[in-house]
Amino acid sequence: MEGSHTIVHGAEELVRGPGTDDPLEVIEDGAVVIEEGVIIEVGQTEEIERRFPPENATTTIDASDQVVVPGLVDSHTHAVFAGDRSDEFAARLAGADYQQILAEGGGILRTVRAVREASEAELRDNLLDILDLMLAHGSTTVEVKSGYGLSTESECKMLRAVAAADALHPIELVATFLGAHAVPPEMDRDEYVDHVIDEQLPAVVDAGLATYCDVFCDEGAFTRDESARILRVADEHGLGLKIHAEEFARLGGAELAATLNATSADHLLQATDSDAQALADAGVVPTLLPGTAFTLGVEYADFERFTDAGSWPAIASDFNPNCHSPSMVMTVQLATHGMGMAPDMALRAATAEAAHALDRPDLGRLDEGSPGDLIILDSPSRLHLPYSFGINPVEAVIKDGRVVHD
Ligand code: NIG
Ligand code: FE
Repeated sequence: MEGSHTIVHGAEELVRGPGTDDPLEVIEDGAVVIEEGVIIEVGQTEEIERRFPPENATTTIDASDQVVVPGLVDSHTHAVFAGDRSDEFAARLAGADYQQILAEGGGILRTVRAVREASEAELRDNLLDILDLMLAHGSTTVEVKSGYGLSTESECKMLRAVAAADALHPIELVATFLGAHAVPPEMDRDEYVDHVIDEQLPAVVDAGLATYCDVFCDEGAFTRDESARILRVADEHGLGLKIHAEEFARLGGAELAATLNATSADHLLQATDSDAQALADAGVVPTLLPGTAFTLGVEYADFERFTDAGSWPAIASDFNPNCHSPSMVMTVQLATHGMGMAPDMALRAATAEAAHALDRPDLGRLDEGSPGDLIILDSPSRLHLPYSFGINPVEAVIKDGRVVHD
C-alpha cells in the first residue's frame, strides 16, 4: 500500500493493550502502521512489511532492540499552579503534618494565594514547562485539575490556562473543575459550597472549560453531603464526575462515587473491601496514586482490594506542589516496587485503565482505529520499565502519528 503512513517496526516487544486472558497482549517483533494520525494496522513486522513495504512509507522508524508501548495516560494531576512548596516538603520530613499545614493556611491554601496573584499567561507557561517533562517521560494524554483559585475568576483563569496550553502542546489535555478543593479564607464553608454550585459551576460550564468535576471529599476539606450536593449539580450540567475519596479519612466518598456512577474515585488509601466492591459493581475506575503515598510517607493503597472485587485499577501521578513528580514512569515504578503490582498490571493501569478513568477507551492501546499515540522505550523488554528504576527509558514519543519527542 502506498500513501502517507508511518511505520514503526522491528520492536523487540510491542504492547498492544489489554489481552483477553492476560493483563496485556504483547507482540514480539512488532510493528504498527499509522495513517493520518490513526493506527491502521498492528502485527508482526514480517507480515506488516509484506503489506506495507517500508519504501512506500513517509516515515519508517526502526525500533529494533527497543520496546513499543501505548502512550502513557496520566488521569489525575494538579499540574497548573504557581509558587513553590519545597520548604513544606522539608518541614514534613522534620515532623510537620500535611493536614496540619493546610489547617494553618499553608499547603493548598498557599498555592491558592500564588495562583490568585499569577496571570493566566504565567499559569499557562508554568504548565507548558511541566508538560515538556511529562512528555519526556512518556505521557501523551494528561488530565489537569483547577482547584487553586477557589473563586469564579481564578478557577476560570486556571482552566483557560489549561485550554491555552492544550492548544500549544502535543500532549492532549483533559480539564477538570475542582472548585471544591478547599474552603477559601474569605468564606465560611456553607457559603462556599453554595458559591461553587451557584456561581463557579455555571461559569465553568457556560465557558466550556471542563470535562469533569471533582471534589476533595476528606477531613479538612468537604464532607460526603457537601460533595454529593456539588457532584449532583455538576452531573445535571453534563460534566463527568471524579472524586478524591478516602485519602486521609474514610468519609464515604467511594460509596458516593458508586451511587453517582462517577467515572473514577481516586486515592482510596482508607477504602475498605465494601468500598472496593461498590466501585467495581458500579464500574467506577479505582485510581491509585502511589506517588502521593510515597511522598507523604504513608502506606500505599491496597491494590488487591480492588482487583479482588473485580476491578482493574488505574494509576496516576497526582502531580501537584505536594507530590512533585510529573513522571508516569516513576508512577509505574512506585506501583510495582512500592505497592507490589505486577509489572504488566502497572503498565495496563498507566495506559488502558487510565484511559477508562477519562472515558477514553480509544486511548492507552495500540489497536486499529486508536490514535497513533505510542512511546518507544530503550529497553530490552517491557519489564525494564519498572525493573530499572530511577531512570527514564523513554527514547521517543509519537502523538497522533507524529514524532513529538526524541
Ligand atoms: O490529590 N488531596 C488533595 N489534593 C491534592 C494535593 C494538592 C496539594 O497539596 O496542593 C492531592 O494529593
Ligand atoms: Fe489530587
